[in-house]
Amino acid sequence: MLFFSSGFPEHLSAMAMVCLSDFEAYAKKYLPRIAWDFFAAGADECSTRDENILAYKRIHFRPRMLRDVSVMDTRTKLLGTEISFPVGIAPTGFHQLAWPDGEKSTARAANAMNTCYIASTYSTCTLEEISAAAPGGFRWFQLYIHRNRAVSQQLVQRAEALGFQALVLTADLPYTGKRRDDVRNGFRLPPHMKLKNLEGAFEGDDCSEYGLPPNSLDPSVTWNDIYWLQSLTRLPIIIKGILTKEDAELAVRHGAQGIIVSNHGGRQLDGGPATIDALIEVVEAVQGRMEVYLDGGIRKGSDVLKALALGAKCVFIGRPALWGLAYKGEEGLQDVLRILRDEFRLSMALAGCASVSEIGRHLVQFSKL
Ligand code: FNR
Repeated sequence: MLFFSSGFPEHLSAMAMVCLSDFEAYAKKYLPRIAWDFFAAGADECSTRDENILAYKRIHFRPRMLRDVSVMDTRTKLLGTEISFPVGIAPTGFHQLAWPDGEKSTARAANAMNTCYIASTYSTCTLEEISAAAPGGFRWFQLYIHRNRAVSQQLVQRAEALGFQALVLTADLPYTGKRRDDVRNGFRLPPHMKLKNLEGAFEGDDCSEYGLPPNSLDPSVTWNDIYWLQSLTRLPIIIKGILTKEDAELAVRHGAQGIIVSNHGGRQLDGGPATIDALIEVVEAVQGRMEVYLDGGIRKGSDVLKALALGAKCVFIGRPALWGLAYKGEEGLQDVLRILRDEFRLSMALAGCASVSEIGRHLVQFSKL
């Protein structure tokens, strides 16, 4: 980025993009205010959103020395599929707010970096467009269950037919959290953007809540609905939004193949734990019976290393992916992923791990402050 020649807009050439905060600063400066506020929002006072990041500062490494880190291997596997480093893209809605090509750019960037992209129900491109943008890419589909179950059933079946490799059921949104800036801004999707996967499903309704009729999601969903999902699809089911050992145990018992420890980036219940703190009790409860992933607050390669040390198989990034898109679409998102990969590899090496399999609980301790 330092050596831009002519052809790049002035504002791009002026900035050296060294770490994810640089992309955040860029997005904050250049995105329309209403889009920035929507991406940044947390619920209520944003304590949980901010705690997701702060909690990493209380964890310190116990690095090991003289361990031959001349050849580094950051690869890992998610449900048997190899990715080149343990950072995927969390589902977030409305990518066209960040970049005109929206989720198509996201799919291409994830594929180019050989990692997993979880496409949201609330994408501004169709699942078909996302698949066509990066054929053969490793993708999971994130599902919100609507009151109109036929809508959800059809989405699941479309995703399976298109080669999405798992279903990620988001469990922490029976209702949308109260995000003050969105309320103040009267946030609505611009008229030229649509929730493309749901087009036609709510024809003629008042789509005033994030592009949907108010209360379109089904708040009566329970663990038994996992069986309903299993009856619709052969895809593995991953539950996103788990924060306790009790729910982790229920996920195992209901036949889920994975959990994403997540608090929705602090956008739902304010006052809940940081995800890196919740990870510990979840991993202890699961005892290796399924894969455990995490999202929330990952901003540096060393955060990834801490999450893996505490038992996550992989982490996912939400907002940083949107900042990358806002910077330069597919290329900008690739930059974000590349920076995280390189920082992760360097942290691993400095902590004395040459491969992901050498990362373990022994690598971290908690500050007593
Ligand atoms: C989200 N998240 C989210 N989750 C989900 O399951 N479906 C969705 O459509 C969305 N949409 C969404 C939009 C925006 C703007 C944000 C910031 C988040 C939550 C997301 O998957 C993830 O849990 C968090 O973003 C992770 O936290 P970080 O990485 O943003 O700190």
